[in-house]
Amino acid sequence: MTSRNQSTKSIGILGTGSAVPERVLTNADLEAMVDTSDEWIVSRTGIRERRIADEGVGASHLAYRAALKALARAGTKAEELDLIICATVTPDMAFPATACLVQELLGVKNIPAFDLSAGCSGFGYALTVAESMLKSGTYQKALVVGVDILSRITDYEDRSTSVLFGDGAGAAILGEVPPGFGFLATEIGADGASGGVLSLPAGGSLQPASLESVQGRQHYIKMQGSDVFKFAVRIIEEAANRVVAEAGLNMDDITWLVPHQANIRIIRSSANRLGVPEERFFVNVDRYGNTSAASIGLALDELAERGDLKSGDSVVLVGFGAGLTWSALVLKWFEGGRSGE
Ligand code: ACO
Repeated sequence: MTSRNQSTKSIGILGTGSAVPERVLTNADLEAMVDTSDEWIVSRTGIRERRIADEGVGASHLAYRAALKALARAGTKAEELDLIICATVTPDMAFPATACLVQELLGVKNIPAFDLSAGCSGFGYALTVAESMLKSGTYQKALVVGVDILSRITDYEDRSTSVLFGDGAGAAILGEVPPGFGFLATEIGADGASGGVLSLPAGGSLQPASLESVQGRQHYIKMQGSDVFKFAVRIIEEAANRVVAEAGLNMDDITWLVPHQANIRIIRSSANRLGVPEERFFVNVDRYGNTSAASIGLALDELAERGDLKSGDSVVLVGFGAGLTWSALVLKWFEGGRSGE
């Protein structure tokens, strides 16, 4: 856990943004593609539809759109950024980093820009890394963007995974906020020994693309869903409780919990285990499915957009994903930096 006592500087979110593709893939569409039903998908996952990027759209394009919105909301010009971190497991290409492609699209020169891979925990990981870099005083304003185009690595012949995933991007501009606001506690972690339950086997250095890897459908997500489910409900409870205590708060003080949007049953079970009414958990998994690194940023932006985040609200962001990884953060929302557009 990151100690809050080492620096007096408070770092928070000045503005959020998000972007999703126009194209909608409904449960009815999936019924025509694999042996599934709307009833099964809704009752087992809570998902009704998800967004799918058109051919020719890369992660950098969605990330750029989300970044522009976040900059406008923060009242920040792209030239003011001195750091870009992009969390993704579906970069445009292995390199250059998607963060560098976003940097180019934004027209920002000579600043560090790098990608970070932590699956669906990526947004929380990137916020945590950016916060510590800003807290050190070396950097002043960071763009953090979580983006994934999981439809490119989803096997639409596999009913157990194809119904779960969607595409999107969520972004945040980080900068200094008044004392007492911003990030109050952060935790990131990983259990590499359990990583095999969720992976994309081929396309890397161990199993480069080959005729066999393509024919064996090894370029698609492989997941042991029930193992991920068990990990998720355990780690959400443990990590959320730890960061809330570290922030000197109780669960009753938390206005909103914004969990990674993977499955409504994981969210309900977590609400139950944490003793928090379900209404305080933000949910949009029904409309977007699991958007991986984009999920928490996209959810936070929708919450802000609909006017449900007030200055001083305490918010918990909690995610889990490939690695297996997790991230949990407590944020005291600061409204001052937003332009209100
Ligand atoms: N439609 C109809 N039936 C299906 C479907 C489907 N789409 N998918 C699976 N089934 C069947 C299975 O074949 C199985 O049938 P059987 O009993 O005859 O063998 C039955 O439904 C039950 O399957 P389970 O896998 O046990 O179903 P479960 O209730 O565990 O739900 C699910 C599966 C939704 C995947 C759940 O385990 C889950 O949400 N896990 C978490 C996944 C997750 O959060 N991943 C996030 C990480 S993603 C990332 O980091 C990139």
